[in-house]
Amino acid sequence: MSPRQPSDEGTGKGERRRPVAARLAELEELELTIDQLVTGGEGLGRFEGIPIFVPFAAPGDRLRVRLVARHPGYGRAEIVALLAPGPGRREPPCPHFGRCGGCDLQHLDDSLQVRLKVMAVAETLRRIGGLRFPAEQIEVVSGEPWGWRLRTQLHTAPAAAGEGVRVGYHARGSHELVAISRCPVLVPALEREAVTLARRLPAEGVPRRLDVAAGDGGEVAIAPLVGDLPHGELAVRVGEFRYRFDARCFFQGHRGLLPQLVDRVVGDAEGERAYDLYGGVGLFALPLARRYREVVVVEGDRIAARYARRNLREHRLGGEVITQAVESWIRTGLPDGAPRVVVDPPRTGLPVAVRALLSLRRPERLTYVSCHPAALARDLAALAEAFTLERLVFLDLFPQTAHLEVVAQLAAKARPAVVVPPPGPRRAAARPGRRSPGRTGDGSRRPPGKGPGGAPRRGSHPHPPGSGGRRRPPR
Ligand SMILES: C[S@@+](CC[C@H](N)C(=O)[O-])C[C@H]1O[C@@H](n2cnc3c(N)ncnc32)[C@H](O)[C@@H]1O
Repeated sequence: MSPRQPSDEGTGKGERRRPVAARLAELEELELTIDQLVTGGEGLGRFEGIPIFVPFAAPGDRLRVRLVARHPGYGRAEIVALLAPGPGRREPPCPHFGRCGGCDLQHLDDSLQVRLKVMAVAETLRRIGGLRFPAEQIEVVSGEPWGWRLRTQLHTAPAAAGEGVRVGYHARGSHELVAISRCPVLVPALEREAVTLARRLPAEGVPRRLDVAAGDGGEVAIAPLVGDLPHGELAVRVGEFRYRFDARCFFQGHRGLLPQLVDRVVGDAEGERAYDLYGGVGLFALPLARRYREVVVVEGDRIAARYARRNLREHRLGGEVITQAVESWIRTGLPDGAPRVVVDPPRTGLPVAVRALLSLRRPERLTYVSCHPAALARDLAALAEAFTLERLVFLDLFPQTAHLEVVAQLAAKARPAVVVPPPGPRRAAARPGRRSPGRTGDGSRRPPGKGPGGAPRRGSHPHPPGSGGRRRPPR
């Protein structure tokens, strides 16, 4: 069958009623116009109403594309020819763009990338979370579009016989190695290290993956230890704090935007106690410890937790660092009505049990730092019964890539009042001394998180509304 090469104009209604898969099965190449960029960085156009996703496309592009995947409700395609460029399309500056799996958006002007990402955040929150937070109300913070990246993961592969090792990134969608001669998103010291590494690695016994990070003053460290390559501790200053870490643990990537990130997360609230969950090496915990009398950090990675303890100690800041998975700690660790909780989970977002217990224990202020808007949207929807979303900030922490960072500030909603019927003839017969949960002896409402006498109740579990007081907190 010779491939049809239709365009998306002038299609009849009858054609549109046929199943999508059947219509796409007959097509090889087609022409379409890209309407928008979606989360993940792909362009979205429609052919006879069928969504077609196209990597490296720009909104407004008129393209000839080749279908590479046909799904029941949509298709995926690659660009065959750029018939007319959309506004804001540019020549990608890096020679490896397109093959290397690191960047997705170099073909778009820097300011257009930011605008499209903010729209993608608003759209994802609406579509997945049912949250109407217009893009115009999202605060936007952007910085250096090039030379920003403090950490990277490089991959290695043997070169042709006797020629040592090649170093680079995985190709898009595969584990094939793309050796690099440049990587202009890295801070200069890291780029120098990355592009010269192949010459300095031994010919044999080189790990397949190398974590490489840069500190202030051009220091670089590589993990694991290989030969006499630089290895060990690094330090980065953010505001008044100097953070120690190494290439094995998480540290935020955009050198220039670290102060803004910390500022937007920590804010200026103050109080008795703050919990920094998924706390890493203490990026937020140190400034939180200036504003709260006590800070508790929960971090699952042993090495990061050790640095968090040390970073607090070196600044003479009090704080407890607990090396434990948040989902197990939170069952007994988070009290009712804590003044402040910050969560900064990995891309998968919050586990169901963590969401449920945050809603149940209802901290007064909850800050959610997310690097995955779809997970954020799902989690905010689940938290909406207990919290009001007050503020959203988009930080362009990953220029040239489709990755997104969002900070959401939430405030606890008042708990629904527990209605206790007035004592009647039947209730008067009830056993003396019994009280409804959450009530003081005189029947007045007890403040959240307080036991009898107003004392803080560690790990106490108020029952969710409508549970009749019998539901156990999720495990
Ligand atoms: C996105 S990083 C944030 C780190 C820190 N907030 C920062 O900004 O530098 C997520 C952190 O959570 C840790 N982590 C991942 N899964 C975890 C879990 N289930 N429980 C506790 N920590 C976890 C990782 O080791 C990592 O340090």
